[in-house]
Amino acid sequence: MVHEPNDPATRTAHFAARALNIQPTGIRKMFDLAGEDTIHFGLGEPDFQPPDVAIEAFYQAMKDGHNKYTTQAGLPVLREAIADQWSDFVPGLGAGNVCVTMSGTNALLVMNMTLLDPGDVILVPDPGFPLYVPHAGLMGAEARTYACRHEHGFVPQVEELEALVDDRTRAILYNFPGNPTGATIDEAQRDALLEFAMRHDLWIISDEVYDKVVYNGHHVSFLTEQYDKVILVNSFSKTFAMTGWRIGYLLSPHLGAMEQLSKLQYYVTACSNEAMQYAVLAALRHAPDYPREMAQAFRKRRDVIVERLDAMPGVDCHRPRAAFYAFPRVQVPGLDSETIAMEILRDGVLCSPGTAFGPAGEGHLRFAFTNGLDVMKRGLDLVEGTLNRLHSESAARGAPAAD
Ligand SMILES: Cc1ncc(COP(=O)(O)O)c(C=O)c1O
Repeated sequence: MVHEPNDPATRTAHFAARALNIQPTGIRKMFDLAGEDTIHFGLGEPDFQPPDVAIEAFYQAMKDGHNKYTTQAGLPVLREAIADQWSDFVPGLGAGNVCVTMSGTNALLVMNMTLLDPGDVILVPDPGFPLYVPHAGLMGAEARTYACRHEHGFVPQVEELEALVDDRTRAILYNFPGNPTGATIDEAQRDALLEFAMRHDLWIISDEVYDKVVYNGHHVSFLTEQYDKVILVNSFSKTFAMTGWRIGYLLSPHLGAMEQLSKLQYYVTACSNEAMQYAVLAALRHAPDYPREMAQAFRKRRDVIVERLDAMPGVDCHRPRAAFYAFPRVQVPGLDSETIAMEILRDGVLCSPGTAFGPAGEGHLRFAFTNGLDVMKRGLDLVEGTLNRLHSESAARGAPAAD
């Protein structure tokens, strides 16, 4: 028997509060409203395909019989290769410092399960990746948000963080390069944020899934020799354009943390897909230039989108130094960011309202530049048309002009 959502049997059935209280993310809601011809600046996934060498290795691994469970933390040879990638940051890392997961999302969930008891607090960015707050809620814990503001390059200010810490605070989550802002930090900013966490004995969860999509200089990580209570969350989704494969990892210099994380990972997925782990290993070994080449393509798009958006009425677009998101301030007198995004969607372009990433995202829109240049330019023409229209309508209503 099938129970439809409005069927009385469904309405009276029991569901856990954690299921009933969680909402679909704002990005998905917009996605569901898009038409077939809509130009997408919505989802954060590269429009490239994974390296051929990885696809071939995936197929070959299945042919070779690698269709079985692996150890819960993943294939030692892959974990060793991942640890090697970070050995410039902390020497001496090995397979024991890595747990392969089925995506960054899976890694984030397991991290929350491992660190947070009901009532505990984790500090998370606002605006931030939409899973951070609900994941903590699933643990009965509190995600307390800290602001990342346009005027500070979307980097939190330590004095504001100080005011958020209390004796229930266990961890702080940093996300540089950041989604939705494309923000990065320099060494001095990293050291200040690191020192803050050390002073309060907090775990640092560093979500660095965009570490390979950096345009200016090198990636600055929270993984250093200064502090071992750091858990790195990473993923191959963005690094090798394999969002649909679902593979990522947790890495920490703290072996006690790795023991707990790997133990819990078993209860979530038992292990990751064996053949896919061989495929990722092939990508790491034989396609080391792939992420840099993809980042070069994103950089060209970044230059175009920033210049175009910044020239539009009511728009102030910072220049993201990493990731593939522009997060401009977009103001039309009398309209909030969700209304502006809906008007843009009506004209055929999907972008995300800043509030899909938290209340501090109000006044912003997020554009993922995951289309080729021609499509992107067509989409930006439409956005410009919408903003011109909204500004004329607002002037006709006599609304005060945006500053
Ligand atoms: C900041 C951040 N962390 C984690 C993830 C999760 O990535 P995945 O689950 O595809 O590995 C994403 C995906 O968009 C992200 O933007």
